[in-house]
Amino acid sequence: MSKITVSTLNKMKHEKQKITALTAYDASFAKLFHDNGVEVILVGDSLGMVLQGGDDTLAVTNSEIAYHTRCVRAGSRELFIIADLPFMTYSNPADACKNAAELMRAGANMIKLEGGEWLHDSIRAMTQQGIPVCGHLGLTPQSVHVFGGFKIQGREQSQADKMLSDAKALEAAGAQLLVLECIPSELAKRITDELTIPTIGIGAGNQTDGQILVMHDLVGISAGYIPKFSKNFLLETGNMPAAVQKYCEDVKSGAFPSTEHEFK
Ligand code: KIV
Ligand code: NA
Repeated sequence: MSKITVSTLNKMKHEKQKITALTAYDASFAKLFHDNGVEVILVGDSLGMVLQGGDDTLAVTNSEIAYHTRCVRAGSRELFIIADLPFMTYSNPADACKNAAELMRAGANMIKLEGGEWLHDSIRAMTQQGIPVCGHLGLTPQSVHVFGGFKIQGREQSQADKMLSDAKALEAAGAQLLVLECIPSELAKRITDELTIPTIGIGAGNQTDGQILVMHDLVGISAGYIPKFSKNFLLETGNMPAAVQKYCEDVKSGAFPSTEHEFK
């Protein structure tokens, strides 16, 4: 696979080729995913749940994300890696830049943070200093205690309109990619159509420019349960490389996610 950059991702949006993404936290899985068709790897703060066994992502530190980013980078020099800024590491532009720089030095190509229009100054400061930014709207897990649980977002019209204006604000501030998590498919389509930058969905239907899953969900080993929007690709393929290939194939064709995995 040739090297993926933000230019590749933009081109893919405009040519309507779906972007394939998965989370990874170590070199072996990162290499396996890359070798089998995954274009974007996220070192997500979901590691607080799937690696550390936490009930949410709040305890994850920037050094932990940096450590796992180094591990993932060791899997391949070619990977396009997004790393998450954890809870409360980007409360102001100075902190955002300092913590994002640590993750860039660990090997990330882009930094993701959760939230809307209030991030404007931080995103501007980061992009001006050479740090590419990915936004994240919808069910932003760092706000789980504000939401009162892991619940679908954007069902009310006013919430949906606010999310669209937040998405536009993130793009205007300089974000180059946007993750949309657990929102109605119609809203994800509306946001995707109105933005120039690509969108990557999880639990947001199949009209976004790409898809991402937490790797543990793809192989059915998340503690507890498989979320409605996810699918165990290992079950139908029997081995890891085939499961990853099938996921990529189904994302590319639009077969995944199907209506059973979406929120109306
Ligand atoms: O941390 C993570 O894995 C994420 C994805 C679910 C988008 O942010
Ligand atoms: Na995350």
